[in-house]
Amino acid sequence: MDQLPPYLTISDQPSDVLKSLIEKWEPDHIAILVDENTKESCLPRLAIQNPVIIEIQSGEENKNLKTCEKIWSTLTESQFTRKSLLINLGGGVIGDMGGFAASTYKRGIKFVNIPTTLLSQVDASIGGKLGIDFDHLKNHIGLFKYPDHVIVDPGFLRTLNPREFKSGFGEVVKHALIHDQTQWEKLKASEFENQNWSELIPQSISIKNAVVSEDPTENGLRKILNYGHTIGHAIESHFLMTSDKLLHGEAIAIGMIVEGHLSLQKGWLTDNEYLEINDFIITNFTLPERLPGIEVIGDYLLQDKKNDSRGINFSLLNGIGKCEFDVSVSPEMIEKSLLAYSKP
Ligand SMILES: NC(=O)c1ccc[n+]([C@@H]2O[C@H](COP(=O)([O-])OP(=O)(O)OC[C@H]3O[C@@H](n4cnc5c(N)ncnc54)[C@H](O)[C@@H]3O)[C@@H](O)[C@H]2O)c1
Ligand SMILES: [Zn+2]
Repeated sequence: MDQLPPYLTISDQPSDVLKSLIEKWEPDHIAILVDENTKESCLPRLAIQNPVIIEIQSGEENKNLKTCEKIWSTLTESQFTRKSLLINLGGGVIGDMGGFAASTYKRGIKFVNIPTTLLSQVDASIGGKLGIDFDHLKNHIGLFKYPDHVIVDPGFLRTLNPREFKSGFGEVVKHALIHDQTQWEKLKASEFENQNWSELIPQSISIKNAVVSEDPTENGLRKILNYGHTIGHAIESHFLMTSDKLLHGEAIAIGMIVEGHLSLQKGWLTDNEYLEINDFIITNFTLPERLPGIEVIGDYLLQDKKNDSRGINFSLLNGIGKCEFDVSVSPEMIEKSLLAYSKP
């Protein structure tokens, strides 16, 4: 099994872990960043003496400079110094933005992320990417910096809305497909409702950690984490304009089927392997039956950050548990794979 990151503790007693970090660091002030949901469902489990509570509104639309200003103002009014600590208690929005706000306040104070969604536990908290959205561009302003500590307690997921929970499962499936065939075999053996989370979450974290540790600033290997995301982001953007919005993990689930079909066309997956992926995703996620064609999502694909002068680049499976990046694919192949998904 791959290694967990050194800065991460998995525990069903997050308060105890936090207390020992506080004893070690002796911060002069402590704040906890929450949104209305994590304030109600998660904060009661952290027994910390007299923290400043900074409450922001949940939602991606609030992951912006205005909310950071509110965080910085509260820290300033509460006389936080370079010896103070910020605890980010929430999903990826709180972790990315709280980490960014802490890293820039007085050139950086200590921060601990306590991720409370499945997506943030296995994905957003690992790899040191922090940031906010700017000018309608996602994660446009930010930096690479690791939290001083991450505490993962799968118990927080009990209050998570089932659709959000399942969306995070998309990234768990992705980690297995790109890097760990054994994990894929385990996943396949059960349906979503019967998965063993206390085993799956640490394993999924270690897969992401193994990939980002080899490529901390995204120059190469880290691109394999984009499997399912080229088509997925385009589909996500398209459905954003309709009344049937998709959650990120749902769009990625579709992306993994379509890009799995591209791998099949390349001769890198067998028919059976492709069908396994397709069947598992269709059984476990609630997805639209038909997809828009390339004439509709083509423009979104052209905007993908991974493209270069050669065209649209993908990260594609080369067998289950293996992934290649910077694979250039023709529009004709993309169209064929989109049609394969939409086939009744
Ligand atoms: N830094 C990275 O490497 C990285 C990777 C992937 C995604 N992200 C970012 O993560 C964000 C998405 O994160 P997310 O999917 O966790 O969404 P999110 O942070 O918006 O949380 C989803 C919803 O669940 C609620 N919630 C969180 N924990 C809860 C709990 N335990 N019980 C009840 N409700 C709870 C939140 O209030 C919110 O309404 C995006 O902004 C994305 O850009 C970052
Ligand atoms: Zn993703």
